[in-house]
Amino acid sequence: MTLTNLNEIAEYIVSNGKGILAADESTGTIKKRFDSINTESTEQSRKTYREMLFQADGMKGNIGGVILFEETLKQISEDGTSLVKVISNQGALPGIKVDKGLSPINDNSEETVTNGLDDLDQRCKEYFELGAKFTKWRAVINIGNDVPTDNCINENMHRLANYAKIVQTNKMVPIVEPEVIMDGSHSIDECYEVTSRVLKSLFKHLKDKNVDITGTILKPNMVISGNSCPIQAGVKEVAEKTVKCLLENVPEELPGITFLSGGQSDIDATAHLDAMNKIGGFSWKLSFSYGRALQQAALKAWMGKEENMTNAKSAFSHRALMNKKAALGNWNKDLEN
Ligand code: 13P
Repeated sequence: MTLTNLNEIAEYIVSNGKGILAADESTGTIKKRFDSINTESTEQSRKTYREMLFQADGMKGNIGGVILFEETLKQISEDGTSLVKVISNQGALPGIKVDKGLSPINDNSEETVTNGLDDLDQRCKEYFELGAKFTKWRAVINIGNDVPTDNCINENMHRLANYAKIVQTNKMVPIVEPEVIMDGSHSIDECYEVTSRVLKSLFKHLKDKNVDITGTILKPNMVISGNSCPIQAGVKEVAEKTVKCLLENVPEELPGITFLSGGQSDIDATAHLDAMNKIGGFSWKLSFSYGRALQQAALKAWMGKEENMTNAKSAFSHRALMNKKAALGNWNKDLEN
């Protein structure tokens, strides 16, 4: 695969219905996932689990990029092949999460900012040498009483733009992830309003920093009801409001939008994406960059046991294929059986 510039890399990742496998859980988060299947999280078990996903048949043709945690970028499989090579042998590009997590925006605030800009340029040089073609940075925006504040949105989007500029200077595609969190009792319309404020601010900052939009991927939340809102919007409403919000705020020249799943069920995440692609009328590819919604079924099938690997690979392959169909607007519920 010879991809010579940022736009070609970005377009490749989302070509022909392909999407992204987010396998970049931090050491703390993957431990929680492994706790749920009574499996100890060690460097070896994390490698075994992730290599199992990367070796699955369903990677080919369905997954265009894999986001890794730094540890995985440097790991070598039992037969001596680097995990980066295992991924590229499946026709997917390796990427790396580069942010260093969250801290409170100021004392006593429940709002956060994302850290990791200080040594980012230096780290990018190393990641590029290790084979990374793209990167990810996640900003977190909560909806609640009097939040998000304009200050929180502005500071987080400013950092996302700085990050994107540094990454492009180092010849990698930045995935910009401003995640409006699903937790809370807010309505879908409140999510719409906040997502719209966030995206407006993000694209203003990206423009101010001269970030090349044609070499960038957006990883947003869907416009969706808070998970404890008494009235839950259906698939059609989520799809219509998400597409409308994106059309109002995202420049046409962006090559791809790959959603996070954010705590949605596997089927909801697929059904929403499919419904949006059935609506159509937009220039960007609309695809997936799911963590939980691609991995949950595989994790449960695996349970940390060697003898379950074939079933776990099948479970992951199935979700990868279903989401590719959704990214093409060709999914329906009967395909799940
Ligand atoms: P989820 O799809 O599980 O939300 O994970 C995506 C991700 O990368 C969050 O940063």
